[in-house]
Amino acid sequence: MNKDMYKPIPIYNNVSWDLTSEACHILLISPSGAGKTVFLCYLAAMVLKRGHKILLIDGKNTAFGATFKSIGIQVATNPNEIIVMLENLVEEMEQVYKTHFSSDCIDLDTNFAKLKLSATVLIWDEVLSGLDSGSPEQRKKMTSLLKQLALKSRMSGTGILVLTSQRILSTDLPKSITEQCQTRFLMGANISEELYHVTLGGYKKDLASGYHGGVGKGYTITPTTGLTYFEAPYMDFSKINFKELLERLVHKNNE
Ligand SMILES: Nc1ncnc2c1ncn2[C@@H]1O[C@H](COP(=O)(O)OP(=O)(O)OP(=O)(O)O)[C@@H](O)[C@H]1O
Ligand SMILES: [Mg+2]
Repeated sequence: MNKDMYKPIPIYNNVSWDLTSEACHILLISPSGAGKTVFLCYLAAMVLKRGHKILLIDGKNTAFGATFKSIGIQVATNPNEIIVMLENLVEEMEQVYKTHFSSDCIDLDTNFAKLKLSATVLIWDEVLSGLDSGSPEQRKKMTSLLKQLALKSRMSGTGILVLTSQRILSTDLPKSITEQCQTRFLMGANISEELYHVTLGGYKKDLASGYHGGVGKGYTITPTTGLTYFEAPYMDFSKINFKELLERLVHKNNE
């Protein structure tokens, strides 16, 4: 087994992402071009490095999705594929509960890490445009499946969510989904008070040292760190061959 499997993924100073914690689900918001996809590449690489699985939803059918697809990672790009992917994931999650959590000797704080299971992380880049791309029935279905994962996947590790969007209003996603995303990231220079408020709680104008967001940087809030400035780890794709890096990471865990 990978000895670092359950080690938190470092992000910036004391900010890290702990897949085994209550704050495992991520909501990442930034206007176009402020670095969401680049940040996701880092997070995805770290998840794979630790020996966990990844599923990807890339509604815009970009090079980002294509790169992951080319190394054998499942990528959904249209509403039908997204629904099938979410249904399978919910089913897999139920199966993990049935197999590993139904015994009487399981205590309350048991989770996938204690059982030495691997996690499956669902990365959904541009979740709102993905939901908007479906018919009203498809949207309802996708939202309901996402809700089940947000509420129930934490213990099983099957269906940990990383959701991104360029925008978000408090009415865009059910509270039962957003409230479960206890790790929030907001990046970008031109952030409205409303976007700041919906993403992080609080008010931008109350930041003691002023607002210093930009490309690849902004603010994060988690139950352990509270609200704090952060910079996303940067992968310069003009210098890194990302596909090769992913192949190496996946290959190493299969050895
Ligand atoms: N942490 C960073 N440091 C410096 N430059 C960055 C960083 N992250 C991203 N960039 C630059 O910004 C560009 C846009 O980043 P990215 O595609 O990740 O934005 P995005 O938020 O996904 O945009 P969109 O919403 O349009 O998909 C990248 O091509 C890269 O050159
Ligand atoms: Mg993007």
